[in-house]
Amino acid sequence: MRVLGIETSCDDTGAAIYDTEQGLLVHRLASQIKLHREYGGVVPELAARDHIRTLLPLVDSLLADIPASSPPVDAVAWTAGPGLAGALLVGASVGRSLADAWGVPAVGVHHMEGHLLAPMLEDEPPAFPFVALLVSGGHSMLVDVADVGDYRILGQSLDDAAGEAFDKTAKLLGLGYPGGPAIAKAALDGDPCRFEFPRPMVNRPGLDFSFSGLKTHVRTTAESLELNRQDIADIARCFEDAVVDTLCIKCLRALKQTGRNCIVIAGGVGANRRLREQLRTRTEEIGATVYYPRPEFCTDNGAMIAYAGSVRLAMGAGTADSDFEVRSRWAITEI
Ligand code: KG4
Ligand code: ZN
Repeated sequence: MRVLGIETSCDDTGAAIYDTEQGLLVHRLASQIKLHREYGGVVPELAARDHIRTLLPLVDSLLADIPASSPPVDAVAWTAGPGLAGALLVGASVGRSLADAWGVPAVGVHHMEGHLLAPMLEDEPPAFPFVALLVSGGHSMLVDVADVGDYRILGQSLDDAAGEAFDKTAKLLGLGYPGGPAIAKAALDGDPCRFEFPRPMVNRPGLDFSFSGLKTHVRTTAESLELNRQDIADIARCFEDAVVDTLCIKCLRALKQTGRNCIVIAGGVGANRRLREQLRTRTEEIGATVYYPRPEFCTDNGAMIAYAGSVRLAMGAGTADSDFEVRSRWAITEI
């Protein structure tokens, strides 16, 4: 079964075709980074308009790359939430229209479930059960994953998401948007010993996160200096280390608490090289295994939505005719 997946929840227009027998056939992404850069963050109305302009040509280009058939695909999946309502509506209405025109089943997918299942697109996918660290621009959570749809939240951010902390810190340092890759790049030249930033909430039991204290600490440090290039690199490095260390400590604690020996990292922050390296070393030390999607499937993409859609359809999910409801807020435990 071939599934067209559509992702428009935020600032990336993603589309892909996943075949349940042959795997991922084709995927493409149109990033809106240039569009939002001058505003220092995502402008929801501009995002929605750009999805409208970009999505159908993107789908057309995918269909041109696979052998022609009628209908062109056997099902359509789109991100139904959580995310920006206007942006989500573009993917949902286009997805629904295509499915109706082609007379094929359709399903709205949970964005974070898409992230969570993205490692399944790799050659050596993890096996259930596992613990998942979902770290994106809007969410930070540790989830115990018994099976598809069987999710228990072990801990989550009480304030900023990890990606949001990267984005805000980058803005503070004048590094621009999106903040994660900008901080990671600046940190390459930074001195890890220059500042000692806190590892929030690691001395308290539990698996929740909080990044606002760290953010304040960074702001106070930045304001105490007349920031030059080296100061920025040093702050970026020490901030990145603090976030990575905090996430690693919580991941190891989650493995211990659940008795699982496998952890999956997903979401945009999962593309962070230092986080990937650190977690690999630290999980190996305790005999556990860590799985990641390739970096381009950590950040938003259509492939994860096509895959999650195929899994959900196989489980009997699918929206009724003409339904294209979206939910800007939607808990992963309520799918
Ligand atoms: O999953 P994602 O693409 O979109 C959401 O669902 O939010 O995540 C985007 C977030 C942004 O906050 C971005 O700064 C962060 O992921 N990010 C990174 C890196 N690449 C993207 N954070 C740290 N290091 C990176 N290399
Ligand atoms: Zn995402």
